[in-house]
Amino acid sequence: MMKFTPIVSHTIKDFIEDKATLISLVDGLGSPLNVIFPQAIKQNIEEFLSVFKKHFINGKVFYAHKTNKSNSIVRQASFENVNIDVASENELKSALSNGFTGDRIEATGPKNKGFISLGLQHNIIFNVDNLEEFNQIISLSSHMKNRNKVKIILRFSGFKSESIKVLSKYSRFGIPANDIDIALDKLSEYKDKIKFLGFSFHLDTIDLKEKVIAIENCIKFFNIARDYGFEPHVLDIGGGFKVNYIENQNEWNNSISELKESILGYKESVTWNNQSFGIHNDKGVLKGALNIYNYYDSLTGSKYLDELLSTKLSSFQNRTIGTILSENMIDLYIEPGKAFVNQAGITVSKVNFIKQSSNGDTLIGLGIKRTDLVIGDQELFLDPVIIHNKKDMPLDKNKGVYFIGNLCLETDLIFKHKVFIDKIPSEGDIVVFINTAGYFMDFNSSDTIKQPIAKKVAISKTENGFKWYSDELYSPMNAL
Ligand SMILES: Cc1ncc(COP(=O)(O)O)c(C=O)c1O
Repeated sequence: MMKFTPIVSHTIKDFIEDKATLISLVDGLGSPLNVIFPQAIKQNIEEFLSVFKKHFINGKVFYAHKTNKSNSIVRQASFENVNIDVASENELKSALSNGFTGDRIEATGPKNKGFISLGLQHNIIFNVDNLEEFNQIISLSSHMKNRNKVKIILRFSGFKSESIKVLSKYSRFGIPANDIDIALDKLSEYKDKIKFLGFSFHLDTIDLKEKVIAIENCIKFFNIARDYGFEPHVLDIGGGFKVNYIENQNEWNNSISELKESILGYKESVTWNNQSFGIHNDKGVLKGALNIYNYYDSLTGSKYLDELLSTKLSSFQNRTIGTILSENMIDLYIEPGKAFVNQAGITVSKVNFIKQSSNGDTLIGLGIKRTDLVIGDQELFLDPVIIHNKKDMPLDKNKGVYFIGNLCLETDLIFKHKVFIDKIPSEGDIVVFINTAGYFMDFNSSDTIKQPIAKKVAISKTENGFKWYSDELYSPMNAL
């Protein structure tokens, strides 16, 4: 029987157990509902900062705003020892209106003129994706009679290594690493107009080796840039520090084995219409690769950063990356998204109905759609927590159910796999999806067929219990 028991923070556990507030919030604000715990980011920030300290590194954490549209998270962050990475004009406005000043803001991602000009007015850091973007920044800056030197970081991709072999995907982002001289030539033309801070990358990979190669390349870029008369001192290694969502490694491994056995046909099907997540049975042999995110991962967040900084580079006399950065007085910028909001949110839905499918499966109809919870094609392997209010039917623990969404769309299943619960809920019961603040809850949300987009509430834990605020009105100052 597959089980994907999520890690639940003490605060979230206490909040869920204190059913009354949650039930009245869903009754009053509707299903689906996103519940944010802004104070959770404090611990995540502390953990990253302590790794900087351990490696004697001057570092800055930039919260990757794209992870969540929540106001309360940004507002809480503005009161902490962190900065923010904004990827659109509206994210920049959100950062400014929640208390971030320009000196704590960095713009990443594709930029249009509106985004650039507002950024210039606030003298933020521009993490430049390509040289045409650089030209636009310079030209707008002159046009606006900007008196500040524009703060520039150059983003690169397509790194190579002679000593470490990896197969990496091409990226649509960044300047090709081979074009380092072209880029520095271009920057040299505008030395009096810019303050060149350094180099960056954000790789769409969790592979430590690829990041090591990128860092190794960037450290060499520092020397090249000095030859051009620049004094860069920042290395920005982007985000991608991962999160561990699952409590128990054995449970994860066993459940994934069961999933594979079922797809291969050795066990009863546990996926809707035999969905197979990239693998198939070819004459009794498993072919393909299981295309799912590792919800269990033992090397995540600050531990992943620590591992990266502890990696020795043979091309630098086997010194660790941490030592090289600290000896060369290179400041490390990181842009965690998912890991920044670990345990900072849950998504809640009401149960609308229970039905049987024509093949005898039990379907639980929820007041939420797949896109309110799942990014693209990904499958969420995290069992929800059910709050039973009414009389429930016990269920054979080997039977399993499917959770279906509220769209008139065959594919609108919350999970394409069966979830093994011990009681069937009733209409009006509440289903809680854990740890959804990192992209899940609003990256793809939409009001398709006019189903509502989930409202957000922010929860603050006080000595007198939990207090809730609309996401827009939350402030750490409320507690004073
Ligand atoms: C430039 C950049 N920085 C940071 C992040 C955050 O990544 P993560 O949420 O994996 O930490 C992203 C995510 O796409 C990104 O594109």
